[in-house]
Amino acid sequence: MDMNALRDGWLRAIAAASDDKALAEVEARLFGGKGEVLELVRSVTALPKEERPAFGKAANGVKQEVEQALTAARDRFVAATTAKELQATDFDPTEPGPRLPRGTLHPITIVQNELVDLFTSLGFQWQDGPEVESEYFNFDALNIPGDHPARESQDTFWLTDKNLLRTHTSPVQVRTLQRATKNGFQPPLKVIVPGRCFRSETVDKSHEHTFYQMEGLVVDRVHGDQGVSTANLIHTMKTCLRVILERDLQVRLRPGFFPFVEPGFELDVNCPFCSGKGCSVCKQSGWIEVLPCGMVHPNVLRQGGLDPEEYTGFAFGMGLQRVVMLRYGIDDIRQFMGGNTRFLQQFPEVSR
Ligand code: PHE
Repeated sequence: MDMNALRDGWLRAIAAASDDKALAEVEARLFGGKGEVLELVRSVTALPKEERPAFGKAANGVKQEVEQALTAARDRFVAATTAKELQATDFDPTEPGPRLPRGTLHPITIVQNELVDLFTSLGFQWQDGPEVESEYFNFDALNIPGDHPARESQDTFWLTDKNLLRTHTSPVQVRTLQRATKNGFQPPLKVIVPGRCFRSETVDKSHEHTFYQMEGLVVDRVHGDQGVSTANLIHTMKTCLRVILERDLQVRLRPGFFPFVEPGFELDVNCPFCSGKGCSVCKQSGWIEVLPCGMVHPNVLRQGGLDPEEYTGFAFGMGLQRVVMLRYGIDDIRQFMGGNTRFLQQFPEVSR
């Protein structure tokens, strides 16, 4: 039996198949139950031992060649069918598809993204911390021991295992300092911590049980008698608020008490709604409180593993909702978690 003659016959049969149905028949004849190609390969067993390797090799070569011819023929039919179908349609397949509604970013996300962009451009790093926090990091490490009245000001969701839902992002200050000192502290350390916080508040126009903060922390080594200063803090806050509130503004500091900063401040901006002239939003004072901040307390630095004689720093805790409300003129904090799409769709993503 001439293997080449067989092969030529098979290739001719494949070439002669005029459509995919005919091709399927040829394929069944060659590779089906008693397929001719398979029979050829199997017939090697009938040969004397010494002829088998050469024959087997040749037969397998033929088999491969026929398989390739089949695949090529099948591909040709598929391409032809597709081309025919496309010609028969009366639509333009190169037109873009229907524009499905894309959804929009949440206004808090928009402002958070902008803040993260801004602070990372100033050399800050983004840090995360757990929402389920320990009493130690949420309070004790921040200079708020168990009997301290400041605990009262943060109505806390306690969990049954003595952990809690963090009441602010400040615990990440100490977490970050400890991690940094463990790895050989490299000053300056500049971090921001955007995140979700929880307090057992009665919800009203200006209180939510779930809210977003962005903590900031800067710590550097004291050079001579020059440490991180309140001037550094004010400048950073001014830069940040100017970008976020999209206008030039004035800030002022009032004393504010937080056990983990000393001195501690409430930072106000001149009211964006009346430019400081006095209106109902600023209660005729011309100023709006935007964020608490201060110089990092020595005890917090100690908890972080640093010597407060050697290092100083500032920290701030921005309430993101508050900034978003100022920026867009929103007067009810419940809108953010309300899931009302008519509210949420008003903040198209700014293309940048
Ligand atoms: N963590 C404080 C709060 O939520 C805010 C704050 C942060 C104050 C950093 C000072 C410095 O009330």
